Order: sequence, then C-alpha cells, then structure tokens
Amino acid sequence: MTTECTSIRGRSAGLLVIFVLALQIAGCGQKAEDGPILLKFPHVTAPATPKGQTADRFKQLVEERLQGRVVVEVYPSGQLMDDDDSLDALAFGEVQMIAISLSKLDRLTHKFQIFDLPFLFPDLITVERFQASADGKVLLEAMEDKGLRGLTYWHNGMKQMGAPVPLRTPADAAGLKFRIMESDVLQAQVLQIGGSPQKMALGEVYQALQTGAIDAQENTWSNMYSSKFYEVQKYMTETNHGYLGYLVTVNTSFWDSLPEDIRVELESILREVTEWGNERSETINLEDRQKIVESGISEVVTLTPDELRQWQEAMKPVWTEFEGNIGSSLISAALAARQ
Ligand code: SIN
Repeated sequence: MTTECTSIRGRSAGLLVIFVLALQIAGCGQKAEDGPILLKFPHVTAPATPKGQTADRFKQLVEERLQGRVVVEVYPSGQLMDDDDSLDALAFGEVQMIAISLSKLDRLTHKFQIFDLPFLFPDLITVERFQASADGKVLLEAMEDKGLRGLTYWHNGMKQMGAPVPLRTPADAAGLKFRIMESDVLQAQVLQIGGSPQKMALGEVYQALQTGAIDAQENTWSNMYSSKFYEVQKYMTETNHGYLGYLVTVNTSFWDSLPEDIRVELESILREVTEWGNERSETINLEDRQKIVESGISEVVTLTPDELRQWQEAMKPVWTEFEGNIGSSLISAALAARQ
C-alpha cells in the first residue's frame, strides 16, 4: 500500500481560494508506518523528450537508492492530466511532483516571465549561468506563498517556429494564428510580429494545426518532433528566439513533511538527474531537428544574420512592456549571464 494525501477538488473556485485551501490541507505528513511514499509525477511530453528521459531517470535512481521506501509513478504525454490541472492537483496533494514549463507559471506569479522574454537568452549555457546565480536561485522560492516550491530547473531547449509559409522576416508572420503556451509574454511576442496568439494545451496543437484552427506554433525541436508537428507544418524556421525550460515543483508542506533522510536523498538524486538531463537536452534537440530534416515533410529554414536581426528588433518592445512586472534588476542579471 502506498501513501496518498486526501483528495479535494475545487476547480470551480477561484485560483486564490484553491491555493489558500491547499495550503491548509497539503501537509498530510508521511510516517514510516504508513508504507512506501508515493510520488506521482505527471507530465505532458513524450518519454523520449528531455523531460521524459529525465523524469524516468529520476524514477530509476529513486527506486534503486530508496528501495521500498519511495515509489515514483511517472505519467508521460498528458495521460493523467494536462499542465493546468497538474498545478491544482499538486496544490491539493493529488500528485506530488511536476516539471511544468516556466511559461505556464504565469497564472501564479509574474517572476518567471523573465524566461519568456524573446532573445534574452541566446543559448542554454547562458540560461544555466543565470539559473545558477543568486537571482536564479531566489526564483525557486517565488511561489512559497502559494504553497509550492521549485526544487530545480530542467531544460528542454531553444524554441523555433513552425508555419505554413517560410518565416524569413516578421512580416511573414502577419495575420497567422499562433498557438502559444499560457503566457502573457508569449502573447505580446506574437502580437509584436502581427500574429494572432491562441493559448492552448500541448495535447490539442496537432489537431488544431491539422484542421487549420491555427496556422503556426513555436516550440523546441524535441517537442515538435515528438508531437509530430512536422507532419502538419510545411516550414520550420530556426529562430532560437526563446527558452523552454521547466520548474521541478513540489507542494511545500508535503515536501517538508517527508522524513529528513528521504528528503535529503531525493534532493541529492534530483541534483544528479538535473545535471544528466540538462546535458542531454541539447543533443536530443539536435537529433530531433535532424529527424525532421530527414522526414522530407517539413523544410527547415535557416535565417541570415540580417533576417535574424529583424526578428530581434520586432520583438524587443516586449522587454519594455514586461519590465515593470519582472524588474529591471532581474533583466540586468540575466544580461550579465551572457558573458
Ligand atoms: C512542455 O514541454 O512541457 C510543454 C510545452 C508546450 O506546452 O508547448
């Protein structure tokens, strides 16, 4: 028998009510006599993606090193729930760990908007330097008032754009309906290039592209390959315009209620798999880019330096628009990570 917290549903309640209630009930302390501790870990990407592989590695190491004391159940591909539901489920103790896209935390805090600013981070090394800095580490605690704690960051990769036409300059995006994640920064980014932003769950995107409900989308090579977007997108433009990464998040009360030796071991395993997964993420994305090229279905478009500059200039006003939310000192800290 595994141990689970009491389940309470309050989807119809406002978000604030949900998280205040969650704070009150989420402790559900774990005692040795209760049996193995169950960590339900739902996520929305395929097992072969950077997140899928890292979550599976976490499960493997936990079960090897904490034999019989902790059981990890990983539910990939949105088979248990989508990302929005996973935040509520975590707050109520129905699941114990998630690795949600930083963009999708926008409904809870504006602090992670920094990661969505277009062309702020040129590559994963810069992102990693920022995440490892004092400013990056403080952000892990940005949702303590909601009863949630970030334990570490996992990479997916840099985002590209798929469309029915080659997107060489921002003018090519005018009038296109773009699927985006639940982020106001990404919404502003699409508006800046004359597109029409549509917030949508990952699991709905393939069909929306296939039926023409949307025209375009932005994502990493690994998500575009594993979700088969290349089958329904004639062109993929290599823009590297934004970062897609994850916050490994737990319910603070649940985490603090774990026996100390178990918590310490879990945190140590997380450090190990974070290093392992973040190292692999770039390779996985490059391999998936190559598979898209080899598919012969979708053409990969690369930009000239002048075309790239046009995208950077078109999207730059988004920085000013969100500077008030994010804070100019945090933006400066991210810029400092570029050197
Ligand atoms: C994810 O990578 O977890 C989700 C990304 C998306 O919704 O596009």
